Amino acid sequence: MFANWLRESRSTVVFTGAGMSTESGLPDFRSQNGLWCGKDPMLIASTYALENNRDEFVEFYQMRIKEISKHKPHIGHRILAEWEKRGLIHGIITQNVDGYHQEAGNEQVAELHGSLRTVHCTRCGQKYDAKRYVEPHGTDCECGGFVRPSIVLFGEMLPDEALTKADELIRRAELCLVLGSSLQVSPANLYPQMAKENGAKLVIVNLEPTELDTLADLVVHGERIGAWLQQVEEEMNR
Ligand code: APR
Repeated sequence: MFANWLRESRSTVVFTGAGMSTESGLPDFRSQNGLWCGKDPMLIASTYALENNRDEFVEFYQMRIKEISKHKPHIGHRILAEWEKRGLIHGIITQNVDGYHQEAGNEQVAELHGSLRTVHCTRCGQKYDAKRYVEPHGTDCECGGFVRPSIVLFGEMLPDEALTKADELIRRAELCLVLGSSLQVSPANLYPQMAKENGAKLVIVNLEPTELDTLADLVVHGERIGAWLQQVEEEMNR
C-alpha cells in the first residue's frame, strides 16, 4: 500500500528520529538500551547541564562525536538518498544530529536539533569541525571562550533556518513518512501532526508504539526501518 501512496504523492516528506540510525550502530534515546536509559537528559543535554554539569556534558558529547565518526549511514539512509534523486521524496525533516542523511546523499534536510558535526564558541561564535572536540583542549576557543556542540539543548529554541525549511516541506506534503521516532519531544513532534492537519497521509514506521499512532493512516510496528525500506524499494522496482 505504501509503495502506491509513494508513487501517487506529488510531495512527500520524511520525518526521522534516532531509530533511523540504530542500524548504523548508534543508540537511540528511549529504547531499552537508549542513551537516556538510567540517565536524566536534563542533567546532560540541557542549558542547565552546559552551565552546571560541564564535565559530564563534555564527556557525553565527546563520546557521541566519536561514535558518529566511527559508524556510517546504512542501507535505509542510502534508499532515502536514492528516493530524493528520483524525485520520490522532496525532503527530510530530522531530529537526528549525526549528519547521516547528508552523508548518504540527501540534500534537502532540515536538522531541527542542529548537528554534532560542528561545535562553536559560546563567546565569539567561532565554528569548528566537531572532530576537534575530542582532542586535548578541544573545548577551548582561540578567544579563550568555551566551545560547545552546535545542537539544540533542552531549553533552547530550534534554529530558524531548519524551522523555515521544515514548514515549507510540511505545508506542501501530501504524504508524511515517520521513521524511528517515539514522537515524544516537541516542538519537533508537531510536524507530523501539521502534515495530517494539512490533509497529508501519515505513515509511522517504528519498532514500538508512538504518541501519534492514532493519527496515522498506516502504522508499522516491530519491523526494522532498513528492512522495511528495502521491501518498499523492491515493490517500487516491480
Ligand atoms: N527500526 C524501527 N524503529 C526503531 C529502530 C529500528 N531499527 N531502532 C529504534 N527504533 C524506534 C524505537 O522503538 C523508538 O521508539 O525508534 C524510536 C526512537 O525514539 P527515541 O529514542 O525517543 O528518539 P527520538 O524520537 O529521535 O527522540 C527525539 O529526544 O532527547 C531528544 O534530542 C533528542 O532528537 C532527540 C529527541
